Amino acid sequence: MPIRNDRTRWGLVSQLFHWLLAIMIFAQIALALIFIQLRPGPELFALINAHKSLGLTILVVVVARLIWRWANPVPDLPDTLKPYERFLARFTHGALYALLIAMPLTGWFGSAALGFTIRWFNLFQLPNPIAKDVPLGHALYLTHSILALALGVILVLHIAAAIRHHWILKDDTLRRMLPGVGPRL
Ligand code: HEM
Ligand code: HEM
Repeated sequence: MPIRNDRTRWGLVSQLFHWLLAIMIFAQIALALIFIQLRPGPELFALINAHKSLGLTILVVVVARLIWRWANPVPDLPDTLKPYERFLARFTHGALYALLIAMPLTGWFGSAALGFTIRWFNLFQLPNPIAKDVPLGHALYLTHSILALALGVILVLHIAAAIRHHWILKDDTLRRMLPGVGPRL
C-alpha cells in the first residue's frame, strides 16, 4: 500500500487524513446538534467545551492535511467526467477545505470576542486570539451557524457524488479513497 499519492490514486496518508477528518466532522456536527437543544447548565457547558476543543483539533488536522496535499501529486479526476462534473468536483472539494478552515476560526474568534476562554478537553487553557467585543462575537456566531448550513448542503452533495460514482457510474472514485482496496478488475 503506497504511503504517498500518485496520479491515479490516493496514498495511505491522504486516505487516513480523509477518514479521520470525516469521523471528526460527523462527531462535531452531532455534538452541536445535541447541545443546541440543551438549556444552560453543566451538561451544556461540557458539550460546548468538547465542541470547541474538537473544532480546534480539526483545524490543526486540516492544516496538516493541506500541507501533505501540497507536498504530493494530486490524483487526476477520471477522464470520463463531463466539464460540468469536473467543475462541481473541484468546487465542492475547494468549498469543503474552505469551510473546514472558516468554521473553526469563526467559532474560536466568536468565543473569544464574547469573553469565553477554552480549556482544551479540560486539560489546559488556550489563548484567546482577540479581545472581548460582544457585537463582533454575535456576528461571528451567526456566520458560524450560516457556514454550518452550507457545510451540511455540500456534504450531502459530496456523499451523493461518492455513491453515484461507486454504484451508478461504477468507476474507481470511492475505491481509490479506501485503504487497502485496489481498482476494479
Ligand atoms: C470544523 C469545525 C466545526 C464545525 C463543523 C462546527 C459545527 C457547528 C454546528 C453545526 C453548530 C450549530 C449551528 C447553529 O447554531 O445553528 C455549531 C455551533 C457552535 N459552534 Fe461550532 N463547529 C466547528 C468548530 C467550532 C469551534 C472551533 C468553536 C469554538 C472554539 C465552535 C463554537 C461553536 C459555538 C459556540 C456554537 C453555538 C453558536 C450559537 O450559540 O449560535 N465551533 N458549530
Ligand atoms: C461518508 C462520507 C464520505 C464519503 C463516502 C467520501 C468520499 C470521498 C471520495 C471518494 C473522495 C475522492 C474524490 C477523488 O478521488 O477525486 C473524497 C475526497 C474529498 N473528501 Fe470526502 N467523503 C466523505 C466524507 C467527507 C467529509 C465529512 C469531509 C470533510 C468535511 C470530506 C472532505 C473531502 C475533501 C476535501 C476531498 C478532496 C480531497 C482532495 O482533493 O484533496 N469528505 N471524498
